[in-house]
Amino acid sequence: MTELDAPQEPPQEQASLSLWQQIQEDWQAHERDWTRPGFRAVAVHRFGNWRMTVQPKLLRAPLSLLYGMLYRKIRNGYGIELPYTTQLGRRVVIEHQGAIVIHGYAVIGDDCIIRQGVTIGNRSLEQPLEAPKLGKGVNVGAGAKLLGKLEVGNGAAIGANAVVLNDVPPHHVAVGIPAKVLAPKASI
Ligand SMILES: CC(C)(COP(=O)(O)OP(=O)(O)OC[C@H]1O[C@@H](n2cnc3c(N)ncnc32)[C@H](O)[C@@H]1OP(=O)(O)O)[C@@H](O)C(=O)NCCC(=O)NCCS
Repeated sequence: MTELDAPQEPPQEQASLSLWQQIQEDWQAHERDWTRPGFRAVAVHRFGNWRMTVQPKLLRAPLSLLYGMLYRKIRNGYGIELPYTTQLGRRVVIEHQGAIVIHGYAVIGDDCIIRQGVTIGNRSLEQPLEAPKLGKGVNVGAGAKLLGKLEVGNGAAIGANAVVLNDVPPHHVAVGIPAKVLAPKASI
């Protein structure tokens, strides 16, 4: 089974929004610019999930064909791999484009920011299905790699070019290779 084929239930909260409402929200999150590759990638992801709700399967078939074409266009044209099986929260922003690879079993919470050169994927071919889980409002710096079964807490930040191999607590910052969690700044 490829990432494209794996079944997935949409997150509960998101399921209550229509496809149009989800895409409208994503468009607002991407500064109301429908030409941004990140917005287009997220919109195709939403469409890919929505089409799985269409019954009967025969009616879904042409939509799946269209989804497959759009998915490949986004991947090949913008360098953004975002399979519909990834659990993507609301208002996730993909800033810029190029070399963005997101695992089909990754979980990305509401209001996260993903930048160019980011990989959110498995750590080794021996555990191909193990993928990171990001909480809400995680800010991922350009070029960061998050690898394997790990959790990043709500509101955490990942430094540019960090290689994250372990959990990052909520509202903490992780930087470096391998990434280390910085001590919280003392409040004044
Ligand atoms: C990680 C980041 C969020 C930290 O911001 P911050 O909380 O304000 O932290 P500071 O700038 O005070 O840095 C804290 C320490 O981490 C180090 N650091 C910061 N970013 C780092 C990075 N990406 N890699 C390695 N070390 C880093 C700093 O040198 C500093 O070290 P020191 O305490 O030894 O001097 C920020 O530096 C970052 O990398 N943002 C990504 C932004 C991005 O991708 N921009 C691209 C836009 S297109």
